[in-house]
Amino acid sequence: MTDAKSNTMWGGRFAAGPDAIMEAINASIGFDQRMARQDIEGSRAHAAMLAAQGILTDNDAEAIREGLLTVLSEIETGNFAFSSALEDIHMNVESRLKEIVGEPAGRLHTARSRNDQVATDFKLWVRDQMDATLDAIKALQLAFLAQAEAGADWVMPGFTHLQTAQPVTWGHHMLAYVEMLGRDASRFADARARMNESPLGAAALAGTSFNIDRDATAQALGFDRPSANSLDAVSDRDFALDFLNAASICAMHLSRFAEELVIWSSAQFRFVTLSDRFSTGSSIMPQKKNPDAAELIRAKIARIYGANTALMMVMKGLPLTYSKDMQEDKEQTFDAADNLMLALAAMTGMVTDMTANQPNLEQAASSGFSTATDLADWLVRTLDMPFREAHHVTGAIVKLAEDKGCDLPELSLADMTGVHAKITKDVFDVLGVQNSVASRTSYGGTAPSEVRKQVARWKDKLA
Ligand code: ARG
Repeated sequence: MTDAKSNTMWGGRFAAGPDAIMEAINASIGFDQRMARQDIEGSRAHAAMLAAQGILTDNDAEAIREGLLTVLSEIETGNFAFSSALEDIHMNVESRLKEIVGEPAGRLHTARSRNDQVATDFKLWVRDQMDATLDAIKALQLAFLAQAEAGADWVMPGFTHLQTAQPVTWGHHMLAYVEMLGRDASRFADARARMNESPLGAAALAGTSFNIDRDATAQALGFDRPSANSLDAVSDRDFALDFLNAASICAMHLSRFAEELVIWSSAQFRFVTLSDRFSTGSSIMPQKKNPDAAELIRAKIARIYGANTALMMVMKGLPLTYSKDMQEDKEQTFDAADNLMLALAAMTGMVTDMTANQPNLEQAASSGFSTATDLADWLVRTLDMPFREAHHVTGAIVKLAEDKGCDLPELSLADMTGVHAKITKDVFDVLGVQNSVASRTSYGGTAPSEVRKQVARWKDKLA
């Protein structure tokens, strides 16, 4: 970083340069250099439009265009000296452009302000990040889908309150996450469509007296249209909040599966084996294989939601339009975006590599009286019993099995008829977990036949 006396961009009325502490608190170049590409794209679109409108000469516009490409390549190859005296990416780029092309560089900022510039750059950055996130979500969905397809008929316990509830299928459980991630993707897609209006040309806050063409710059930058209110355009950060909201909910979903992996990979459960590639060892306990990636994913929601909260707090008290507070939008958003991408990638790796321990899953599904509901349903269906009475009778049978230290299929017919005389041996057909899951063919139910239909639907959708 170099030092300057009074700022060359805005220092006309200043006799002295800023205090070092002032410079430190004011500068954003340490982080907003991540928007260099977007800044240069925005400037190129702006310069081309100014030329087309006769506000810049073609020669000046051409010099600016060439110069900006040089600046971009300097930045991308790491040959650019960023200066905190020049505060931010916008002024760093423009100042370097001046060194390269001279006077025309000073004309680039005609009919523009850093306020519409930063809003445009940040929107372009967030939009790119939304696209990358959508791709990463899809990759994870495909990983869950492959697991669902492989294990469409593997039986496992389904839980409520983390207590064995009813048998379900592995495929069904995996598809639950495909659904959640589908909603996540739609949230990012909605946010993307909503934010896709160009702030460029709103200038400082009031628009400009120059005859600019906002449709042209909007189109050049891939926006659907220019934003319709210049005050709103420079003071809006909803797009970043939409992104952080969607990211928070997505991270929450990842955290829930991460928690399941931590439980499932424990010695007490042994539902899954995580691959060596996504586990770590202990420096003192040689037997250990720890699910660190899952634990870290479980924790990522904290900082992502923190970013969401932080930006809400930054924005909530700001009068229109731009205030410097808004510079605090970027670090939070960058950090959340990076960590969501990392969490999605790590989870995709873990899900792809994990091995379900089928025998353990089935054994766990068969214990804990998991087919008690099947028994109650059998009493309703076969003996025409009201469900509440069937629930009561089943409760008595469960109690009997518990006293005998066995599971429901291990009771004798005499045990059953001792509780209710009309029960027949056919009841044993519904007490096995395979039959139990196969019978749940209602739409969206856990039966392997239903799971296979949903797998096919998602395959189609993600193709
Ligand atoms: N670095 C500033 C930001 O990130 C750019 C906008 C500055 N605008 C201004 N009027 N000082 O928000």
